[in-house]
Amino acid sequence: MSNVLITGGAGFIGSNLAHKLVANGDNVTIVDDLSMGKRKNIADIDVTFYEHDVCDHGFMHNLLSKGRFDYIYYLAAVASVADSVERPMATHQINQESVVDTLDYLRTQHLPLKRFLFTSSAAVYGNLPDFPKKESSHVQPLTPYAIDKYSSERYTIDYGQLYDMPTVAVRFFNVYGPRQNPESPYSGVLSIITDCLNSGKTFSLYGDGSQTRDFIYVDDVVNALLTIVDKAPEPDVYNVANGMETSLSEVIRTYEKIAHSQLKMEKKDSRNGDISKSRADVTKLQSLGFKPKWTLESGLKNYWSTYGE
Ligand code: NAD
Ligand code: UD1
Repeated sequence: MSNVLITGGAGFIGSNLAHKLVANGDNVTIVDDLSMGKRKNIADIDVTFYEHDVCDHGFMHNLLSKGRFDYIYYLAAVASVADSVERPMATHQINQESVVDTLDYLRTQHLPLKRFLFTSSAAVYGNLPDFPKKESSHVQPLTPYAIDKYSSERYTIDYGQLYDMPTVAVRFFNVYGPRQNPESPYSGVLSIITDCLNSGKTFSLYGDGSQTRDFIYVDDVVNALLTIVDKAPEPDVYNVANGMETSLSEVIRTYEKIAHSQLKMEKKDSRNGDISKSRADVTKLQSLGFKPKWTLESGLKNYWSTYGE
């Protein structure tokens, strides 16, 4: 049994990870300020929960000293690219400063640690033309979100290399599935589409729908994280994706068939800083022995059949 801390653990990916770790017998602690996360996401599992801001350094230092965590999954963040464009300074404090402060506290206190994992993003790649995106591809962070994710990812890897700490970073592509909060205009697009298909609300399509994403089901993401934490040989960064590229229009068509319902849509201008094309090279992740189990269609079917449960 391991002691595990998940920041942002009441959120979408964090709560799915928490369910898996608790089922595996781990002792899980969660810090989340519930700005996007929900208590109900973790209500049916036995975890220690702190409703708190990760930017409160004193609180975090105390928790890290007392908790003596084997594994730390750092997921707390402003997770929306568009939200970061509205709130660059607040984003910076959460998505970058709190991460560096945690790493530095772990370094200076010599706390025992098996792995610190930071969750970065495909957003770091920007709109450069080379495809698919390899971890070694050039980056082009176009928004406060992408700048802070890239910076925190580098701090994570460099702390590992400079101070011999067991760190690793992941670049998630577009994750979807149960427990993603659809309530904000800044929520992940598939949670919003699911909600609209379910309730008959009108979906706002930003741009013409030709923008592509590499969608991965959350269950695969959780398994990828466990593989990386266990097997990554050194501080490094890994793409976490399916390796497939699908346009938003195509996703909507597929989902309409699954839901047997037509999405009501209104067209709006593209969002500032939006990426037009995204697809990952997943060779590096596969080299650790990981393979996704869900296609976009099977993932959407499962998401739809469990929605509202
Ligand atoms: P999410 O919004 O559901 O989860 C983030 C959690 O962090 C939320 O529960 C939120 O309440 C919490 N949080 C935000 N600010 C906080 C603060 N100051 N103190 C404490 N908690 C705070 O988003 P998610 O999709 O689960 O994303 C998890 C991580 O993965 C994020 O770091 C995000 O940037 C990254 N990521 C997500 C995707 C995706 O497609 N969902 C893709 C790339 C990267
Ligand atoms: C998402 C993640 C981000 C992650 C990135 C990695 C969320 C909220 N964002 O950003 O954390 O780092 O993937 O690739 O999980 N759209 C609409 N209508 C809507 C909402 C969105 O048309 O109501 C469009 C957007 O303009 C965009 C696409 O759908 O073109 C995807 O948007 P979104 O789900 O917010 O994802 P990313 O911006 O790719």
